[in-house]
Amino acid sequence: MSDAESSAKLAFKGQTYDLPVKKGALGPDVIDISKLYAEGKVFTFDPGYTSTASCESRITYIDGDEGILLHRGYPIDQLAENGDFIETCYLLYYGELPNQAQRRSFEHAITHHTMIHEQMSRFFQGFRRDAHPMAVMVAVVGAMSAFYHDSTDIDDPRQREIASHRVIAKLPTIAAMAYKYHIGQPFVYPRNELSYAANFLHMCFAVPCEEYKVNPILARAMDRIFILHADHEQNASTSTVRLAGSSGANPFACIAAGIACLWGPAHGGANEAALKMLGEIGTVDNIPAFIEKVKDKSSNIRLMGFGHRVYKNYDPRAKIMQQTAHEVLSELGVKDDPLLDVARELERVALNDKYFVERKLYPNVDFYSGITLRTLGFPTSMFTVLFALARTVGWISQWKEMIEDPSQRIGRPRQLYNGPLKRDYVSISKRGK
Ligand code: CMC
Repeated sequence: MSDAESSAKLAFKGQTYDLPVKKGALGPDVIDISKLYAEGKVFTFDPGYTSTASCESRITYIDGDEGILLHRGYPIDQLAENGDFIETCYLLYYGELPNQAQRRSFEHAITHHTMIHEQMSRFFQGFRRDAHPMAVMVAVVGAMSAFYHDSTDIDDPRQREIASHRVIAKLPTIAAMAYKYHIGQPFVYPRNELSYAANFLHMCFAVPCEEYKVNPILARAMDRIFILHADHEQNASTSTVRLAGSSGANPFACIAAGIACLWGPAHGGANEAALKMLGEIGTVDNIPAFIEKVKDKSSNIRLMGFGHRVYKNYDPRAKIMQQTAHEVLSELGVKDDPLLDVARELERVALNDKYFVERKLYPNVDFYSGITLRTLGFPTSMFTVLFALARTVGWISQWKEMIEDPSQRIGRPRQLYNGPLKRDYVSISKRGK
């Protein structure tokens, strides 16, 4: 770095390039290489983007070494402890916590967008009953662009806002319908008098033949789970949403792309995989043998719910999730949950094992979320759906930020080509039998 620390020097093939250094409000400085190819005909190489900042953002900050997660500057534990999901949505999307009038008006807008176009419900019938609800989510959320044409003009700020309200409001309805369809029960319409989380639980667990009263403690736990998953900086699905949106694609298509990416077991699918893993371990006696298998690279087995690309410390969301798991278990009178015993012991063993310590592998948000969601009554196939529902506000806030950024251009990574050199076409008759 130069004396002024405002630029960095790169010496390459006898040339020196001055690269501007940008300083963020928090976090490492960023070396701006955007003109490097134009000036030096050289690319940088960073598969997995471990050292690459793909955009400038004012939404979420993570300090992975310290285990800090801030939304618009507010620590996640303060939001989870004192706020609620609607407020967190407002904060992520508009940049500030709402005052009372702003909150009323936002909550009203979200509540009054929860119904979906009646014809959309026919999509569900086209799926096999045993379809994974994430497959249904990708399709139905993508189909929103076929129904809400009046909010797909991305150059109109009001249309952007309406589309954003629509996805935040309708995702719980679509998620609950995906669940109801999966288990063969009738769809339950949203209820405007209920809170965001309570309405979701009602749409999932109510049936037309009897009254269903939402337990406020469980609704609070659901709300907190939504807060914990609301946004997480430039992770794989958020980057997917931004990349899809950078071409000018409509917001519903972008959110569907984010859902598709989230589905993978290394990302949102990890909560499902973590619970499956705990079930397979079964009892604490089997933990040592399982840990040995994880450490044996040839087994290709990972400790699911452990490790994170950014956190090299305890994921701050995992602590709150663990506490939420306890609250849900105690409210539902579950005294002994064998899987919770396995999870606690597994965590203790891993945190004291050289393999995990050296690699700075700690529990992430998904380690305890599966236990909590299962106790709330959700089947494992719904876990990633709940993650998608909650992350939608993060995706749409990041999408809006990108569209409103005057420097925004289509995302177009380059590559290190290692394929065959130019060669001439050979007709099939000369390629052998
Ligand atoms: N179990 C065992 N070993 C692991 C694990 C794990 N869960 N995670 C990382 N490692 C090892 C890995 O084998 C490698 O070892 P070595 O240096 O000897 O080759 C080292 O730790 C670094 O791993 P990496 O794969 O380079 O790390 P990454 O940053 O690419 O991967 C991760 C991050 C989250 C994909 C990975 O930790 C993982 O697969 N964890 C399990 C899946 C999981 O819980 N995912 C949820 C993430 S939180 C929710 C979300 O944001 O989506």
